[in-house]
Amino acid sequence: MNGNVIVGQSGGPTAVINSSLAGVFRTAIDRGAKKVYGMRYGIQGLLDEMYVDLSDYIKNELDVEILKRTPSAFLGTCRYKLPAIHENQEIYDKIFEILDKLDIECFIYIGGNDSMDTIKKLSDYAILTGKTQKFVGVPKTIDNDLALTDHTPGYGSAAKYIATSIKEVIRDGNGFSYRKQLVTVIEIMGRNAGWLTGAAALAKGEDCEGVDLIYLPEVPFDTQDFIEEIRELLKEKSTVFIAISEGIRLADGTYVSEAGGGSDYVDAFGHKQLTGSATYLANLINHEIGCKTRAVEFSSLQRSASHLASRVDINEAFMVGGAAVKAADEGDSGKMVVIDRVSDDPYQSATGVYDVHKIANGEKTVPREWITERGDYVTEDFIDYVRPLIQGDYPCVMVNGLPRHLYLK
Ligand code: F6P
Repeated sequence: MNGNVIVGQSGGPTAVINSSLAGVFRTAIDRGAKKVYGMRYGIQGLLDEMYVDLSDYIKNELDVEILKRTPSAFLGTCRYKLPAIHENQEIYDKIFEILDKLDIECFIYIGGNDSMDTIKKLSDYAILTGKTQKFVGVPKTIDNDLALTDHTPGYGSAAKYIATSIKEVIRDGNGFSYRKQLVTVIEIMGRNAGWLTGAAALAKGEDCEGVDLIYLPEVPFDTQDFIEEIRELLKEKSTVFIAISEGIRLADGTYVSEAGGGSDYVDAFGHKQLTGSATYLANLINHEIGCKTRAVEFSSLQRSASHLASRVDINEAFMVGGAAVKAADEGDSGKMVVIDRVSDDPYQSATGVYDVHKIANGEKTVPREWITERGDYVTEDFIDYVRPLIQGDYPCVMVNGLPRHLYLK
């Protein structure tokens, strides 16, 4: 490599997004990049010429190791949609002016389906105008909703946190189960895809009964059926645990979170903030059935719990970061790195690259056949798919009793 590399992070963070950043940094240096720049706050920050030289922050192997274990976007993130090229060419001219000034050869963007829109537009613009920079995306999202990749970095660790925390919530609730009814509703992120909510099924095992019901956004939610299912369960047991996706919708398409008041906030990509469904449903159960209820919303904890990250996930996140630099350095552009599952037992994966135009702005949802007919749980195929992704630990570097993070002021 003769020139420099610039890398940005975009969209909702994960527990392992910085492992991908570390992978980009390491491979860029190994392949001879003179400098590896980091965009502050993704493309939005870059437009304001906010960037850092990563060598000023990642100085040795220990820094790399701590970065891999640091949750959330080290560089800062954004949800920023570039306008269509014909709508505002000036923005593109400005970005390429900055890239030329920094002698950028490879532009790497770590993000989800919305962020891949940025790779798509910048690579299209480069082709249109004869620019030589290469643009490659690195997959990332706890939602696991990117097309053409077996799964996305960030998903396995969030799934591990969710299954672990649900086991703990069940232990807590069952302690009070003598002559007392309790229904706990647990709300899990994932927007319109139920991958993460389905991971709640992993809580079930030899030492845990698991959740009783799981509701994904892929199947319309019927409030009356929901209440009746709980009534039936309470005839047999005193504690009921239910996992719901933040994105469950009624048959008419209304999000349950909207029905419950929710939030009016809408981001640059038109996504509504989905929150409050568990509280709404817990209150509804209390009103209809009269028992004690509890709502648990994992919120940002599920995407930042690096203390419980999966080793498979951290390693794959690092691997895809490196693969993106290699691909760009070898001439690929307008592509995203994907993870291919090579085998399940033992679990093995490899990287490939795909046209980002087939990935950007799409949403891969859970196949209907991986959800039970009643739409209230996931099947064994789903569980077999996700279980390998939560394997292994990646212990934190502990200082003074707490995990150490790499921090950019
Ligand atoms: O894109 C990942 C995600 O974590 C979704 O699951 C969730 O709906 C969204 O981000 C929340 O984003 P924010 O924190 O910006 O509200």
